[in-house]
Amino acid sequence: MKLCISLDLPTAKENIQLVKEVNKLNINDELWLKVGFRSFIRDGQEFLEELKAINNNFKLFLDLKLYDIPNTMADAAFEIANFGIVDMFNVHASAGQIAMKTVMQRIKAVPNRPIVLAVTALTSFDNDNFRAVYNEDIDTKARKFAIDAYDSGIDGVVCSAHESKDIKSCTSDDFITLCPGIRPFGEDSQDQKRVADLNFAKEEIVDFIVVGRPIYKSIEPKEVVNKILNNI
Ligand code: C5P
Repeated sequence: MKLCISLDLPTAKENIQLVKEVNKLNINDELWLKVGFRSFIRDGQEFLEELKAINNNFKLFLDLKLYDIPNTMADAAFEIANFGIVDMFNVHASAGQIAMKTVMQRIKAVPNRPIVLAVTALTSFDNDNFRAVYNEDIDTKARKFAIDAYDSGIDGVVCSAHESKDIKSCTSDDFITLCPGIRPFGEDSQDQKRVADLNFAKEEIVDFIVVGRPIYKSIEPKEVVNKILNNI
């Protein structure tokens, strides 16, 4: 299991400060950094380069959850892949199989193309709110989205830890699961509805855990990262 730290702080300076602090740990494990809407819209590709400049071994996950018509999604995916420094990005599985296949087709010739994940159900949904949008229960629909993504040649999914094992059983053990909504040691769930702690994530054979607020809102982020790494 790998740790992916969510860089969702209000300014680039604070995100960089957090990463520099974490970098003091001299980590040997693969450490991932997640750059989402807020940071990327504000700080762009330059910010990605700044992160790599801190430690070239950091892996970058660009969490933009692409959702549009197939050609537009594929164009965006191609641009991301051509940055040359993004190791993983994501699309919405609800954009459909044609969109996912078009994305994979478009980036397949890019050398060392990034890993591509598809978002199944956002972890902020509870079942009632999910049903109101998709007219189906979360676990049933998440499984269907995962199979669609798998059949489209996508590398894995973003899902809740509660669905990870089930998704692997109906796709493949190698099909990557990346799970937000992780509260490593039972911290406050905030707006997340389907949370999981480290032990549960391990039992569910999660490949990547995404942790944001429990790290960056802590008074000692470096220590929290250290404790997580020691427990995975
Ligand atoms: O602070 P917290 O640990 O809840 O952060 C979770 C991160 O994962 C946020 O950046 C959020 O946008 C992202 N995310 C999520 N649920 C998804 C996909 C991404 O919470 N399904």
